[in-house]
Amino acid sequence: MTVVAIMGAQWGDEGKGKIVDELAMKANFVVRYQGGSNAGHRVVHDTGEFAFHLVPSGILYPNTSCIIGNGVVIDPKGLISEIELLQEQGIDTSRLYISERAHVVMPYHFLLDRLEEEARGADKIDSTQRGIGPAYVDKHARTGIRMADLLNVDTFRAKLSQILQQKNRMITQIYGQPPLSLEEIHGTYFRYGQQLLPHIADTQKMLHDALFENKTILLEGAQGALLDIDFGTYPFVTSSSTMAAHAAVGAGLPPRSIDRVIGIYKAYITRVGSGPMPTGLFEAVGHELRDRGHEYGTTTGRERRCGWFDAVAGRFVAQLNGLDAAILTKLDVLDTFLTIKICTAYSLHGKIIHSLPATLSDLAACEPLYEEVEGWQCDTTGIQSYDELPYAAKNYLNRLEELLETPIAMISVSPQRGKTIQVQDVMAPPEHDARYPRNIMR
Ligand code: GDP
Ligand code: IMO
Ligand code: MG
Repeated sequence: MTVVAIMGAQWGDEGKGKIVDELAMKANFVVRYQGGSNAGHRVVHDTGEFAFHLVPSGILYPNTSCIIGNGVVIDPKGLISEIELLQEQGIDTSRLYISERAHVVMPYHFLLDRLEEEARGADKIDSTQRGIGPAYVDKHARTGIRMADLLNVDTFRAKLSQILQQKNRMITQIYGQPPLSLEEIHGTYFRYGQQLLPHIADTQKMLHDALFENKTILLEGAQGALLDIDFGTYPFVTSSSTMAAHAAVGAGLPPRSIDRVIGIYKAYITRVGSGPMPTGLFEAVGHELRDRGHEYGTTTGRERRCGWFDAVAGRFVAQLNGLDAAILTKLDVLDTFLTIKICTAYSLHGKIIHSLPATLSDLAACEPLYEEVEGWQCDTTGIQSYDELPYAAKNYLNRLEELLETPIAMISVSPQRGKTIQVQDVMAPPEHDARYPRNIMR
């Protein structure tokens, strides 16, 4: 049995989809545990390209079961389209299971996401407008609708009727917009529930059984640690907990069942949407990173801001999540640079600091302090082993390991499946005490 949690260690889009797709080859289950269709995880195969928003990036393997856990918020319409598209591409989706406890993103969540953003004006979060924030608000306000609720026509109607009265007051009286129709939403969402019924299941029971059958489980995070609701660059964050500590809750697993926590970092850094980014570059270097890395959003197509690797933020994330290892993606994007910079500290109001300040004003005032290393200026996309990497690339990787205080277990050099250098097997089973096979503590 191995349970491995994979999480984004920057501002999202680190390449989680590509890495989870590769690691899923050895997994019996892949589980999404937070976020919603704000996520966009791209996977590139010889046979085609896939962009996953809600479906876990393990669905391409015929023997891997995929679970959308209770911690995810689900737009059923989007999910149905995603399933249909996969089916058109010849992918078997019968092994996709949805937690009955996962919350539903309702039409008023989409609407409020847009109206709230418009009301924020210049201070807008730049959300993906997928209704994620308002859906998590309702979950925590105890006014959410869960997948299981969609299945009973009468109780669904009663719940929706009560919630919609309150939402319509907000929509009409605060935002001056026309109210939403109970009949329309009830009919449409009941139908979505029926369409998804074959996939809705008691997923924590499935995972609990899997634990004791010694199965291998991969937990797939969405977004990244710097977008976390507690530790991210608040308020320019997403509305879920992206930390590894939440992976167990969002999947429905005991916290101590997680054997390993792996953080994915890009070899540089990107951010899409508003909020401070100390190493963000607006000049030619930033554009070169953007163009070479094709840094445009998988979900919204928006341009991502690019900058040098921020090891201050990187170490903050490694420490908070107790990362066992890091996986570095997009090393190939740096192939052309004569020199490469790494941010090792910030200067804040004349003082040198090595941690991420809590307030937005301090973070915005941080000046990055850089160390410069030699580039390798050759093509790394065909490299298959660590030894083959150019000396300067190894030097860069060693320096990042030192700064993150975390070993780098894999290095990705292309979007293509298989173009990943393995240094350590992150899926290897941990040591067990053979005397107590059913005891998950170690
Ligand atoms: P995610 O949200 O973390 O899954 O990342 P995205 O899929 O949104 O964005 C990462 C992008 O980088 C995708 O287009 C991937 O195909 C691509 N990608 C992943 N790994 C590599 C790599 O090692 N090299 C290059 N050049 N592209 C990569
Ligand atoms: P993946 O899983 C990058 C950003 C949005 C916005 C902020 C809040 O592909 O890495 P939200 O819609 O969540 O309320 O938006 O978070 N954001 C992401 N940025 N990758 C993502 O997901 C993101 N999901 C949300 O741009 O700034
Ligand atoms: Mg993405």
